[in-house]
Amino acid sequence: MNFVGSHILSVSQFDRQAIRTVFEVADRMLPYANRQRITRVLEGAILGNMFFEPSTRTRVSFGCAWNLLGGEVRETTEIKASAIAKGESFYDTARVLSGYSDMIVMRHQLEGSVDEFAVASRVPVINGGDGANEHPSQALLDLYTIRKEMKDRGKNIDGLRIALVGDLRYGRAVHSLCKLLTLYENMHFILISPPELSLSAEYVDDIKRAGHKVLESDELQTGIGHADILYVTRTQEERFPNQAEADKYKGLFRLNQSIYTEYCEPNTVIMHPLPRDSRGNANELDNDLNENPNLAIFRQTDNGVLIRMALFALILDVVDKVEETSSKVNWYTARRF
Ligand code: NCD
Repeated sequence: MNFVGSHILSVSQFDRQAIRTVFEVADRMLPYANRQRITRVLEGAILGNMFFEPSTRTRVSFGCAWNLLGGEVRETTEIKASAIAKGESFYDTARVLSGYSDMIVMRHQLEGSVDEFAVASRVPVINGGDGANEHPSQALLDLYTIRKEMKDRGKNIDGLRIALVGDLRYGRAVHSLCKLLTLYENMHFILISPPELSLSAEYVDDIKRAGHKVLESDELQTGIGHADILYVTRTQEERFPNQAEADKYKGLFRLNQSIYTEYCEPNTVIMHPLPRDSRGNANELDNDLNENPNLAIFRQTDNGVLIRMALFALILDVVDKVEETSSKVNWYTARRF
């Protein structure tokens, strides 16, 4: 895969070698994300960060990743704050904004919207989530986290047993992660969801065609006992026709410390793309797990900065110049990694 100048729209663009490249560059970003060194490699460069759906960590970590490489960020949030609300097409918006930016990250509720935007853009575009379709940078940071967590436990990605729990139908993070995991060997997918929110056949068929094992269940306890990773997800309520319909599926699977202790193997890693829905009727991942050392959710969010810095550096062809333009930081810094 040639990263330089390219859009990142789908994880289908990646093979194992390309993933290895992203992870190697992400590892090299550690001193910068950890505030031991600063780099000015993207000094003068502008990121157009366009988030037309709610976002905290994806939006802010893309922005911070760009800032940590020395660049400036221009943000557009909400459709009503942009000319799309006046009827402007993606084509026109992309032509205009790509004149102002060196790279664009975009999130939008419509599947395929970011692809359409990228066709008209004159600068590289990264998909920050297009409806229920894909979320490539999330899947890369999830896989990077999985690799690290497994390494700490003396295992690797090949042979992994992963239980994906919750809304597998609308969860774009799940979709992209499943596609990436399919590239590895001898995987066990345990798909735990209500039947109405199961992973759609196109993904399941691809997984099976690649020779991996799939177990589908609508009971939390059934599958989690044999998993290395539990990947819990939120009911994607914004994708349902109405709130009452979404509410039917909230709270069906709740992972907490007592269920973990009773059913999981010791050291099973707990992940979630976040946000977890901590409201009483949902609460799919209980706060009583917060001190559990196997809870990797905040390691995922920290790793997101490394992965996003790596994508920027690869696409803009500055990987080998990051260090050249670097110096030590002058302020007191807390360690993140
Ligand atoms: C996910 C998303 O937006 O798809 N969040 C994120 O970017 N980390 C998952 C979700 O919203 O449930």
